[in-house]
Amino acid sequence: MTDQPSDPHWWRQAVFYQIYPRSFADSDADGVGDLPGVISRLPFLADLGVDAVWLSPFYPSALADGGYDVADYRDVDPRLGTLDDFDRLIAEADRLSLKVMVDIVPNHTSSDHRWFQEALRAAPGDPARDRYVFRAGRGPDGALPPTDWVSCFGGPAWTRLPDGQWYLHLFAPEQPDLNWDHPEVRADFLTTLRFWSDRGVAGFRVDVAHGLAKDLVDPLRDIGDVRGYDPEDLPEDGSHPLWDRDEVHGIFREWRKVFDEYDPPRIGVAEAWVRDARRAPYASPDELGQAFNFDFLNAPPSAPALRAVIDGALSAAREAGASATWVLSNHDVIRHASRLALPDELSRADRETWLLADGREPVADRALGLRRARAATLLMLALPGSSYLYQGEELGLPEVADLPRSALQDPTWERSGHQVKGRDGCRVPLPWTRSGPSYGFGDGGSWLPQPESFGELSVEAQEGVAGSTLELYREALGLRGQLLGDEGLEWLDSVGQPHAGVLHFRRSNGWQCLSNLSARPVQLPAGSEVMLSSGPLTGDEVPPHTTVWLLWP
Ligand code: BGC
Repeated sequence: MTDQPSDPHWWRQAVFYQIYPRSFADSDADGVGDLPGVISRLPFLADLGVDAVWLSPFYPSALADGGYDVADYRDVDPRLGTLDDFDRLIAEADRLSLKVMVDIVPNHTSSDHRWFQEALRAAPGDPARDRYVFRAGRGPDGALPPTDWVSCFGGPAWTRLPDGQWYLHLFAPEQPDLNWDHPEVRADFLTTLRFWSDRGVAGFRVDVAHGLAKDLVDPLRDIGDVRGYDPEDLPEDGSHPLWDRDEVHGIFREWRKVFDEYDPPRIGVAEAWVRDARRAPYASPDELGQAFNFDFLNAPPSAPALRAVIDGALSAAREAGASATWVLSNHDVIRHASRLALPDELSRADRETWLLADGREPVADRALGLRRARAATLLMLALPGSSYLYQGEELGLPEVADLPRSALQDPTWERSGHQVKGRDGCRVPLPWTRSGPSYGFGDGGSWLPQPESFGELSVEAQEGVAGSTLELYREALGLRGQLLGDEGLEWLDSVGQPHAGVLHFRRSNGWQCLSNLSARPVQLPAGSEVMLSSGPLTGDEVPPHTTVWLLWP
């Protein structure tokens, strides 16, 4: 077990780096990233200046949903390594003063999980089925699903077995939903939390945290499509049958007791798509301690919209007794260098259409996207709270929108009847070198094809190059480490002239951040010293789509 320093609040303003293990680094030339690959690149991450890594699932999995279909919560997929590799990873991370957080997927298992296999072998009505959600169908012969629920990846949320019963899966059919009213389910996850905590992990990112508690009292209620809902449309009183029910908090209070058995206490961050007003309990110190807030990622890049989101997130975090979380990219969304290259008025659905058109229509302005992405990143890293970076954003990688259809692996593609291309475009393996097989990802090619543009975006091509996105991230993370003080933020409303397209705020230690999100240049505040800029400045002006960090002597 790792000898972690015991500052119980280390996470409050930490920078986390999300590793999607299949796509990070491949040590054994099978085209798939693995834990030894991660170990070999940890020095790069320490040098980048992040505090912690979050590993997306590396557990045994049939990869029906990129590893979020877990067959065994307490092992490593043989293609990705062994438990010994995991222990070496923790030891190496520890040596480099990096913490490690793992992903836990409690809403559903893989259909390969021993519990589900046992349930399949059992007859209808057998207690072995009670760990999941099995029901008889409706209509003559029970041939219709028990409800009209549509799964998050498209298609019905129920699958029928040859014996006539149906089982629930809010995601792919290979991801049967667990029944969290079952004591064995609850107890087993506590065992899993201890298993990884004993091995030295610092905490857990909790997948679909808002989904565990469901109203499964018969008769089940029809509600239709459970995809792409706007969390603000969920009921205020927690009465939705599937999402954000009050009972879920009892589960996380139990988890907290386990977290607090360790020194420092283990941490949790909830992936909870819930109303802003109902996020606080997930993030409270009695429960997981933090909750992702995706409003920052989804906000239009305008100063008033972002300011409202920032204020909302900071006050919600304060109310919860947590620190705020900031995210611009992850393994589920279009990379921000591309998102910000598209016209602002596009809705999420329009962006799906853009992917379906292989990124041709509307035309993405790549240079503008990168410029805005760098500005957004410096803004994010200046905010109080934790930032969660996604692998490859430090290289300014774009979404690979034109992946050939034959290469697509995201279940959304098939389940939507080829109407939604899915999330593979942000999961393309990382380029480490300018050339060579898979640009240094590994010697055996890469499980998703990399575009040629990856060579010039590689770590090798950017390392030591002044002004490169990689060096910008390094400088920003280094400076942030020196400047961080308390979690306060004070808005400064007039920069020479009042300007509606500007976000300008002060942190402690004389640190100020000014983002010019407008189309016009803005005068630098007199008397300030520029420490870092997301793009070149023109004299004493901050050009459009640029963020500067200022020091106020
Ligand atoms: C994860 C996704 C996954 C889904 C089902 C999410 O929110 O981030 O990648 O497909 O949960 O596990």
